[in-house]
Amino acid sequence: MAKLGNTSRRACSGLFRKPNETMRLIITTIVGVVLGFFIGISFPTVSITKLHFPSSIISYIEDRNSGLATQALLNHALTSARNQNRNNSKDFNDTLKIYVPTNPRGAERLPPGIVVSESDFYLRRLWGNPDEDLKMKQKYLVTFTVGYDQKKNIDAAVKKFSENFTIVLFHYDGRTSEWDEFEWSKRAIHVSARKQTKWWYAKRFLHPDIVASYEYIFIWDEDLGVEHFNAEEYIKLVKKHGLEISQPGLEPNRGLTWQMTKRRGDREVHKETEERPGWCSDPHLPPCAAFVEIMATVFSRDAWRCVWHMIQNDLVHGWGLDFALRKCVEPAHEKIGVVDSQWIVHQVVPSLGNQGVAENGKAPWEGVRERCRKEWGMFQNRMADAEKAYYKEKGIRPPNTTAV
Ligand SMILES: *[C@@H]1O[C@H](CO)[C@@H](O)[C@H](O)[C@H]1NC(C)=O
Ligand SMILES: *[C@@H]1O[C@H](CO)[C@@H](O)[C@H](O)[C@H]1NC(C)=O
Ligand SMILES: *[C@@H]1O[C@H](CO)[C@@H](O)[C@H](O)[C@H]1NC(C)=O
Ligand SMILES: *[C@@H]1O[C@H](CO)[C@@H](O)[C@H](O)[C@H]1NC(C)=O
Repeated sequence: MAKLGNTSRRACSGLFRKPNETMRLIITTIVGVVLGFFIGISFPTVSITKLHFPSSIISYIEDRNSGLATQALLNHALTSARNQNRNNSKDFNDTLKIYVPTNPRGAERLPPGIVVSESDFYLRRLWGNPDEDLKMKQKYLVTFTVGYDQKKNIDAAVKKFSENFTIVLFHYDGRTSEWDEFEWSKRAIHVSARKQTKWWYAKRFLHPDIVASYEYIFIWDEDLGVEHFNAEEYIKLVKKHGLEISQPGLEPNRGLTWQMTKRRGDREVHKETEERPGWCSDPHLPPCAAFVEIMATVFSRDAWRCVWHMIQNDLVHGWGLDFALRKCVEPAHEKIGVVDSQWIVHQVVPSLGNQGVAENGKAPWEGVRERCRKEWGMFQNRMADAEKAYYKEKGIRPPNTTAV
């Protein structure tokens, strides 16, 4: 349930309530109907739906609430219809029907000039000239999946992201309005759906076409300490070292699973590491390289376009995704890495992990953990099957290492 968009619809229908407008409205409607009939008998070979007259009349009345404007629109539509269809009775045929196969799927009937296939999270005004709505267009996007209990942490984190970032909060606890105590909350996008995970939101609200305006996309957890982190500096380093998928180094000693993501004190970034003996079959493969974790991941626009497609709708914890990120960039061991000089602390606070259900005598967090592991296995199998199917179809022998 997105919080987006309600206000504008309410604002527009609110215009409707003035009683002295009702009479004008009725007249406009009658004019519309009469003209519609007239159009119908004047151009019998052109179907009304093709011209979309009824819907444009109705929506225009709703939107503008002005008889004069409606009439002007009708005149314009009539004239252009007349021009367009002057030859119709004789030689209207399929060549006049628009069909553009290169348009986005489903939009082939539109002239390409009107197709807007990508969007953004820029907040607009309800008034004025649309050209002047946006004082600036943020180039980067940061999302946090949050519960209100972590507000202090998130407030501190958001302040490490400059005005060049669009901020999106995904609320898993249903508490959204409380955040307005922070000034920045008013320019943030709030999306609320109870007890959902970061990757659930990402799949549903961060479609690559929707976030196409953003050069880099940060998809972050809520329990990250950001004292030694600056987002603008981070992006400079990511660009300098050509990282398409990255994360800040993690402060050593706390909650560390992998060597790869451990911060190194002596460099800007690193792209490979040594793990415990036997952990890496190949120095260019995870967990020794081509690998970051999924708690504080940063994607380039292009990398995200691929990763979004790899996220499964039913596997919400994202376990295993970190091992598969490398499938989205080439060569992965050069384009995936850890930024050491802008680093974070993983605080490991129990949050969503605690929001499971106690079942069969097990604590809620145990059920969640079990599900995480199960999802990891399912993801691995799906990836392996998909690759096998691909190679089979191509008649190629699969490479030996395809495991995720
Ligand atoms: C109508 O047909 C004539 C001749 O066939 C053509 O020159 C003209 O462009 C056509 N008009 C429209 C609006 O298609
Ligand atoms: C449709 O009209 C165009 C030009 O008016 C003509 O070249 C074409 O052959 C026509 N197609 C059909 C299927 O009648
Ligand atoms: C935001 O981006 C602009 C343009 O790249 C840059 O000049 C400015 O320094 C950035 N703001 C911050 C706080 O870094
Ligand atoms: C892959 O495995 C097969 C046997 O399982 C072996 O013969 C082949 O040499 C291996 N290829 C590589 C590139 O390791």
